[in-house]
Amino acid sequence: MGKKKTTLTLKQMKEDGEKITMVTSYDYAMGTLAEKAGVDTILIGDSVQMVVLGDECTVPATMETMIHHTRAVVKGAPNTFIITDMPFGSYQVSAEKAVENAIRIQKEGGCDAVKLEGGVNMEHVIKAITSAGVPVCGHIGLTPQTTAMLGGYRVQGKGEAAKKVLEDALAVERAGAFMIVLECIPGELATLISQKLTIPTIGIGGGNGTDGQVLVFHDMLGLFDKFSPKHNKVFKNIGKEIVEGIQEYITEVKDRSFPAPENTFGGVSKDDLDGLY
Ligand code: KIV
Repeated sequence: MGKKKTTLTLKQMKEDGEKITMVTSYDYAMGTLAEKAGVDTILIGDSVQMVVLGDECTVPATMETMIHHTRAVVKGAPNTFIITDMPFGSYQVSAEKAVENAIRIQKEGGCDAVKLEGGVNMEHVIKAITSAGVPVCGHIGLTPQTTAMLGGYRVQGKGEAAKKVLEDALAVERAGAFMIVLECIPGELATLISQKLTIPTIGIGGGNGTDGQVLVFHDMLGLFDKFSPKHNKVFKNIGKEIVEGIQEYITEVKDRSFPAPENTFGGVSKDDLDGLY
């Protein structure tokens, strides 16, 4: 296991041309596994609301949900740089409220930084949170919390719309963010933004020209079966293995081969039990 990354070493990785890896995690076990694998950063994404809690979108995620899951992951991955999503509604009302909630997530969750969605429209908010001392990771392009405004889960920044995405990226950097997620934008645009910014860019559906990549734990390991986005790759189908494992368990219980003697406690003799029947 390497040394825990910081905002400074993550920036150094960009400067050195070393790709940054990020994966989402939502509980203690996932945190331990992600850290054991050697990932550079972990994101407690508000995708928890979909892949763990079964909702159709991330909008219902609350402060309590994000803090609850962050606390578990931090315990499992104490040596990994951890970022937590600010849930929808926790930073849009005012910069003051956003600072209050960012500090709460960091203090109660124990993460190293927070992430929030938006570009030019969130410049003042990012500035306020970073001025208060909480590192912020931006998130532009497809912003899942506001897909109702975007008209659904659609690739952003195509054609003339590329200029707006670039302006958003520049605003996030200007505001003081230490890193930015670029979600579902054309590869050429993600590459251009990555070259223009001095902070690391982390792509998801942004091609190979970003400074790093992020994937959702459940998507990359076959644990979420509702849909698999085009930008995703299933690296190992653990979901299939889990089903097979449970099926073996069912078979062994039904045919009485489980629990076997080695899974059974002793410590009482026939004499002890005489008269108890
Ligand atoms: O919530 C999440 O998992 C995310 C990633 C897709 C970047 O924001």
